[in-house]
This record gives sequence, C-alpha cells and structure tokens, in this order.
Amino acid sequence: MRDLLPTGRPVLVLAPMQDVTDLPFMRIMGRRGGPDVYVTEYFRVHGDSRPEAHILRSVCEHGTGRPVFAQMIGQDIGSLVRTAKELLKYPVAGIDLNLGCPAPVVCRKDAGGGLLRYPERIEAIVGALREAVGEGRFTVKCRLGFDDAEGFGRLLGIFGRHRPDAVTIHARTVRDGYRTPVRPDPVVEAVGELGCPVIANGNVVDVATGLAWLRRSGAAGLMIGRGAIRNPWIFDQLRAAWEGREGPAPTGNDVLEYVQELWDETASCEARFHEVKQVAKMKKYLCYISQGMGGDGMFEHRIRRAETPGEFFGICREYLGHDDAVAVRPPETSTFFCGFGALLEGEAGGG
Ligand SMILES: Cc1cc2nc3c(=O)[nH]c(=O)nc-3n(C[C@H](O)[C@H](O)[C@H](O)COP(=O)(O)O)c2cc1C
Repeated sequence: MRDLLPTGRPVLVLAPMQDVTDLPFMRIMGRRGGPDVYVTEYFRVHGDSRPEAHILRSVCEHGTGRPVFAQMIGQDIGSLVRTAKELLKYPVAGIDLNLGCPAPVVCRKDAGGGLLRYPERIEAIVGALREAVGEGRFTVKCRLGFDDAEGFGRLLGIFGRHRPDAVTIHARTVRDGYRTPVRPDPVVEAVGELGCPVIANGNVVDVATGLAWLRRSGAAGLMIGRGAIRNPWIFDQLRAAWEGREGPAPTGNDVLEYVQELWDETASCEARFHEVKQVAKMKKYLCYISQGMGGDGMFEHRIRRAETPGEFFGICREYLGHDDAVAVRPPETSTFFCGFGALLEGEAGGG
C-alpha cells in the first residue's frame, strides 16, 4: 500500500459502496480526476461462493489507470483465504477486508460489522489473510465497534500484531449507522498506535470537511463515499486545495452532464436495457446528487416519483439546466448527509 501513496499529500480513496461503485461509476469518476485508489463493492464470501462476475468486470475494465482493491465480506476463514488467492489472480492492487457493514442480513451472519462482536474470530481472520496475501497488499476497513467503541483498543491490538498494510476507519459504531457525527479521537489513537497508514472515513462532503478531518485525526488520507456520489469532482477539488490552485466549480449543467453519463454508462453495462429498472437505478444516485441542488427538497421528492426516462430527465433539466455554480455542500438537515457539521466546529469558516 505504501508504494501506492502519493508523496507529499494525503491519499484519496473512493469508498466501496454496494450497487454504486461498480464499473460505470468507476469509469465516470476516472474521467473527473477521480481518487488515487478505488475499492470494489464487496465480494460475498462463503463456502460455495465464487467471485461475482460483475464485480470482477469493474476490476478488469475500469480503465482509470489507478489501483483497485478488491473488498471481501465473510466470516469463514478457509473461504476468505481461498477467495483472496483467487482474486489476486486478477489485476487488483490488493485485498480489503470488510469489518463494518451494518446491514442486518450481514450482521446476522456474523460478517462485516457483525464480526466486531467477536475479536477472537477477527484475530484469526486477519492473521490468516495476512499470511495469504503478499506484503503491501492487505488492507482492512472497520468501524469503531458494534454497540459501542469500548473494544476499539483491542481491535487496534489485533491490527498491531498482524500488520495490515493500511487501515481505514469509518469512525462510527455499527449501531451509529450513517447519520451521526464521526469521532476523531479513536482515529488519532490508531494513528499513534499503528505502524501503517490510517485512512479516515465518514462525512466528508467538500474540501472544508476533508481538510478538517485530516487536521483532527492526523490520518494519512481520506476515504470518501456519499460525498463523491453527490460531487464527483471532490477528489480534484481536494488535490487543487493542496496544490494551491483553483479547483473545479461545477455548474448545474456540469451536474446534468454527469447524470446523463451515469445513465448512458449504466445502461450500456446492462445485458438487457429495461426502462423502469434503469430509472430505479438512477434514483439511487439521485437521492444523493439532488441534495442542496435547488427546490428546497422538491428535486429529490419529484425524482422519487418519476417513472419514465422522459419524466426523469425533465425533472433533472428543471433543477440542473443552468450555468450557475451548484451549492458546494448538501444541507446539514439532509437525511443522506447529516452530521458533517460537527467536523467543522471550531474550524475557521466552519460552524
Ligand atoms: C449505498 C452504500 C453502500 C455501501 N457499501 C459498502 C460496501 O460494499 N463496503 C464497505 O466497506 N462499505 C460500504 N458502505 C460504507 C461506505 O464505504 C462508507 O464507509 C460510509 O458511507 C461512510 O463514508 P461517507 O460518509 O464518505 O459516505 C456503503 C455505504 C453506502 C452509502
């Protein structure tokens, strides 16, 4: 991992997001500067699993020229080791282990965030994967704990013993979900204790929240998820801030072009185009993109009700067909982004 880090500035990673960070999305990010490193949606791993073909396509065909880590979710050690070895035959930069997914169906199987209740099992999995995956190629993405962050010190102990090559911390517990403020203190603790790069994750929505996260945590980089769906220029904007140059300031029409590209790319990746399914797929992106893009919530409300491509694009054009710069930040009251304001407390220009 260290050889993938840019010199002289923090690394920028696109967060893995199920049904979002697929082949079309990676390509579209890449055309707008994109992150330094990508992570796939998770490969589900169990006794009978085979790596999902559509995720493998994102590994092989993204064409961004940037490294991609393949993320796995599961709890069976033999299957995880087998799958890691299989995935390493593809052009992946390395293997990432998911220790944070809060989905009840995943946690019930003691995988993802559910594993955080079983530190002995995490110790065995991380130890086995460390041995199976070559140096520089094994990373972990975790939350702070399941119900609370009491066990986080123990988790750091496991990482200290088995030395993953980087650790990304989504600084919430599984119970916290996605809407609370993130907690910088455990990330500071990890930076102090672990010898590997620690990447801070959660609630970066613009340059100011990204810079505040780094100042508060001392992390080696940022992983950005929802903020990058809403604003695919965010990685270039951060790089511009570090280089002291003017970053991209997208207008409504730039966002409209992005939506059109999402439509075209996702449609072209489907084996069989289906209008209704395509509109439904686009709504998943638009619930993030529409936040703060005008209409006081009406953009999102109307898109939710769109059924045909004509209705969908008519509504998008109504709110995005203009040449004014769009709002940098989503509203703090948005259910899709709330909680980021805490990162800015006490920061110059924050609040
Ligand atoms: C739609 C969606 C899907 C996600 N899927 C994954 C996943 O497959 N693997 C994973 O580790 N995290 C997943 N996450 C969590 C994100 O990677 C990230 O940790 C979280 O969204 C916080 O970062 P953000 O505030 O920048 O979005 C997902 C999040 C969202 C919103």
